[in-house]
Amino acid sequence: MRNERVPGKGARSSGLLLRAAVRRLDTRGVEEPELNAQWLLADALGTERLALLTDLSVPVPAAALRRFENGLVLKESGLPLAYILGWQNFRGLKIKVDARVLVPRPETEELAGLAADYLKPFSGDISALDYGAGSGAIGLWLAHRFPVLKVTAVEKSARALACARENAAALGLAGRINFIRAETLAGMRGKFNLIVSNPPYIPTRVINGLSPEVLSEPRMALDGGGDGLGIARMLIALSPGRLKKGGAMLLEVGGGQAKNLLARMSAKTWTGKKLFKDLNGVERFVFGMTK
Ligand SMILES: C[S@@+](CC[C@H](N)C(=O)[O-])C[C@H]1O[C@@H](n2cnc3c(N)ncnc32)[C@H](O)[C@@H]1O
Repeated sequence: MRNERVPGKGARSSGLLLRAAVRRLDTRGVEEPELNAQWLLADALGTERLALLTDLSVPVPAAALRRFENGLVLKESGLPLAYILGWQNFRGLKIKVDARVLVPRPETEELAGLAADYLKPFSGDISALDYGAGSGAIGLWLAHRFPVLKVTAVEKSARALACARENAAALGLAGRINFIRAETLAGMRGKFNLIVSNPPYIPTRVINGLSPEVLSEPRMALDGGGDGLGIARMLIALSPGRLKKGGAMLLEVGGGQAKNLLARMSAKTWTGKKLFKDLNGVERFVFGMTK
């Protein structure tokens, strides 16, 4: 019997298949066709992308070719690459993602980095609350980065919370995370050193015009209500009651939203208010500490 994992006679090389796939994805208007094709072929062959690129003469067995073809069809249909692969790299952690959760974005890796900058000087008993945890990426990475940190992950969607729990278990962090299903900070207990959040912030009216790729992500993860700021406003209003004295709130927001939110943080309650730009120069992160 033929072994489909071993290349048969006439199996095409990885380089040849890659070139054809890039042309195909490009013709279909898929962004970053090279990267997508490389990741999909590497995944089909069970290897890393960079390892794939070191030898493009490797013959591709029939089973891998079928898997690659499936991946290309899914990509052409507008599915995010991370959903097809089943994971997304988040500051070096492999985070499982699927249709239950938003795919963590590079800006959110920056948010987690800013959160780490704030937590770094603390020692001993420190705690952080990740509001709207989704896949759990932010809170899990912080727990991984700070072995003493206690993390509370709050999420409205039961399906997303299940994914975050699966990620915590896979990363050996389950014992360090308190998962809470809730849709507001009201009624929450405990006081934290940091509340960090990447809330949904897209105004409802804009949602239907988003790309098919973004629209395949959960609407609950995108839709921030009328002006997009509903949850951010709630966090600004209620975080002070859940922060230790001198504790900080750090939010990721949409382009053009940050100044408006900063202006809502009253000088009576907040100190050290600051906006941070992301790597693209967009005012993206809102920071403040309680007095
Ligand atoms: C933009 S996603 C962020 C997910 C993850 N933290 C990340 O950065 O990749 C927002 C998350 O907030 C959740 N969410 C939406 N409304 C919420 C609410 N009222 N309370 C708590 N979580 C909410 C969504 O289900 C989604 O998982």
